[in-house]
Amino acid sequence: MKIWGGARLEGEVWLPPAKNSVLPILAASLLCDGPVRLRQTPRLTDVENSLALLRAAGMHAAWEGEDLLLTPGRPGKSALPDGPVRAMRSSVFYLAPMLHRMGEVRMTMPGGCRLGPRPIDIHLEGLACMGAAAVWKGEQLTLSAPEGLHGAEFALRLPSVGATETLMMAAVKARGITVLHGAAREPEVVDLARFLMAAGAHICGAGTSTIWIQGRERLSGAAFRPVADRIVAATVLAAAAATGGSVTLRRCVPDHLEPVLEVLARAGCCIRREGPAALMLEASARLAGAGWVTAGAYPAFPTDAAPVLAAAFLTAAGPSYFEDTVFEHRFGCAAGFTALGGRAKVRGRLLELAPAEHLQGAAVSAADLRGGAALAVAALQAQGESTIAQAGYIRRGYGDLAALLRSLGAHACWEEKTERKNERKQQAEGEKYFSEAGGISLP
Ligand code: UD1
Repeated sequence: MKIWGGARLEGEVWLPPAKNSVLPILAASLLCDGPVRLRQTPRLTDVENSLALLRAAGMHAAWEGEDLLLTPGRPGKSALPDGPVRAMRSSVFYLAPMLHRMGEVRMTMPGGCRLGPRPIDIHLEGLACMGAAAVWKGEQLTLSAPEGLHGAEFALRLPSVGATETLMMAAVKARGITVLHGAAREPEVVDLARFLMAAGAHICGAGTSTIWIQGRERLSGAAFRPVADRIVAATVLAAAAATGGSVTLRRCVPDHLEPVLEVLARAGCCIRREGPAALMLEASARLAGAGWVTAGAYPAFPTDAAPVLAAAFLTAAGPSYFEDTVFEHRFGCAAGFTALGGRAKVRGRLLELAPAEHLQGAAVSAADLRGGAALAVAALQAQGESTIAQAGYIRRGYGDLAALLRSLGAHACWEEKTERKNERKQQAEGEKYFSEAGGISLP
């Protein structure tokens, strides 16, 4: 991605549905006996990889405008293809639905952003309590439950978002009642519960640390629009704050952004709620330092927003400290910050930022998804041209970040080469969906 910094960002953004809601819901569609319509699904690389997994499992998937339509077909193979499994952490969401659908699932260790160790032990411990048996051969996992899954009482060792979602998906079709203690409380967990309940599941307590689930034999389909993406929201707010700009977020849930808004308000931004689903931010010419920000499990400051928000504080008037208690290596973007002239230092899980007078455009490289978006926010403040290599990471979580920033007045684009390649890839995928959807009557 290329960015020419210096423009003050101004305008309004309608938030897309959250990637972290869409991905588990896509996996959960395997639990449904009827058709699922996911409204306004963002076209992310992780969504494309999820569709590859769904197709391998025997689902039919087709785009209808911005909606994604999923209809159950004949069950596919129990082995999931390595490529898409390795491309994202969210392949772990297929364990429970595949157990229900096929009685067995085989896959390699899920990939995703390298933010430090990301074991799946809590997912597997919970599933074992519900009757699944795991066998590892090197990196290859086979998980089976020939007798089906049964309800259980399980305490999560830490409030893992993914493990909470895996166990909810396991419990909605298990025999009997499941109680999850120490569950994650993220809005995306609540959203998955809302989707499952729309399909007929019995769930109580999602959004608190104890969730009760009564298993059911069948789930219907559902039409659903996932909750707004609070990390895209934080990225847009950070970009506006970094450039002394002003932005209105529409279709957002301001409550979900509370800890992010608190940091920006403390730094001198003026924030106004405009009704239940919109808010406006107006930044001062130069932000005050962020002070100490600790990212943790919801309702704390979101770990995914830490790098993007930190980027807005590179040229702040005072120091900022961003600590991440969730992942060991959250701040892989620090090297890029420094290359752009930022005064950034990583000590363990802490990113320290000293005030820099100005940033200078440079060639930098994205280390992960949110780190890549953070470099874009930094480059918006830099004088001259910046090039972000490995920007494919950014496409995993933002449909088209360059276009989004341009809509606010930034000078940003994808390098032509990449753009043409993506266009060709999208066309090929479109043709593939079309041919696979042929002959099926879709809702
Ligand atoms: C989800 C989000 C990700 C976000 C993270 C934390 C999705 C698709 N991704 O990831 O964007 O950064 O929540 O909000 O929703 N852990 C274990 N064992 C496990 C599972 C997790 O030790 O079995 C640890 C992880 O290593 C990590 C911590 O728990 O240190 C939190 O991870 P978790 O909440 O599971 O994150 P994800 O679901 O992977």
